[in-house]
Amino acid sequence: MSETVIGVIGGSGVYEIDGLEDARWQAVDSPWGTPSDQILTGRLDGVKMAFLPRHGRGHVHSPSTVPYRANIDALKRLGVTDVISVSACGSFREEMAPGDFVIVDQFIDRTFAREKSFFGTGCVAHVSVAHPTCLRLGAACATAAEAQGVTVHRGGTYLAMEGPQFSTLAESRMYREAWGCDVIGMTNMPEAKLAREAELCYASVAMITDFDSWHPDHGAVEITEIIATLTGNSQKARNLVAALPGLLGAERAPCPHGCDRALDFAVMTAPD
Ligand code: ADE
Repeated sequence: MSETVIGVIGGSGVYEIDGLEDARWQAVDSPWGTPSDQILTGRLDGVKMAFLPRHGRGHVHSPSTVPYRANIDALKRLGVTDVISVSACGSFREEMAPGDFVIVDQFIDRTFAREKSFFGTGCVAHVSVAHPTCLRLGAACATAAEAQGVTVHRGGTYLAMEGPQFSTLAESRMYREAWGCDVIGMTNMPEAKLAREAELCYASVAMITDFDSWHPDHGAVEITEIIATLTGNSQKARNLVAALPGLLGAERAPCPHGCDRALDFAVMTAPD
């Protein structure tokens, strides 16, 4: 058994949690660069927590400039075992409406202007991301969200786009009709891949804010619409996070899906 440490990567609504004990903002150095911001650490119901604002306080990083490697590495250095990503997304499905939460379990990665691996020159490794999220952690997030009265979709494919512009109508239709995607966002990749390389459990709570551009009854995506939906949901997102210590417990058994052993047979480079 080891100790559970919950890491949360998300926006400002998520880390303003009542009852966080020993709360303090810490700067964490990483050889992979400077993380998006300092990390708020503390204890909730006896479980260590670490909150990292993905875009930095004041929203200074665009999806393409978020230092994904430094962020995941900094959480790992703090002893984080389980990472919950909280983010906004657009929906490709009529039945997945703004205000609903999707517990993402698959991704199509269309990002192209980001560093995607901790491995490369010097040490080469190929981890499996066939199942890129942790089902145990995702189930805990779903249970916590359902307890808030949120409509939760357990499972969904997330199209990760580069941005910062939203999709064209042709792209939106292609992702939905030909590629079978359920939601679209700009931030979960390469975050999920890097979490796997760092042997961290990763679950993605995608909060639907809009219907992207495919829906005949809705116009183009607007930031004001996204912010209004996110603001309306921020208490539910906070409550979801606040319920996780009770659901996960302070002691942690090995991940039943092997997220914490992802590198066991992945490294190609011979040891020195
Ligand atoms: N984030 C929220 N809505 C989005 C959309 N429609 N496309 C990409 N990222 C989003």
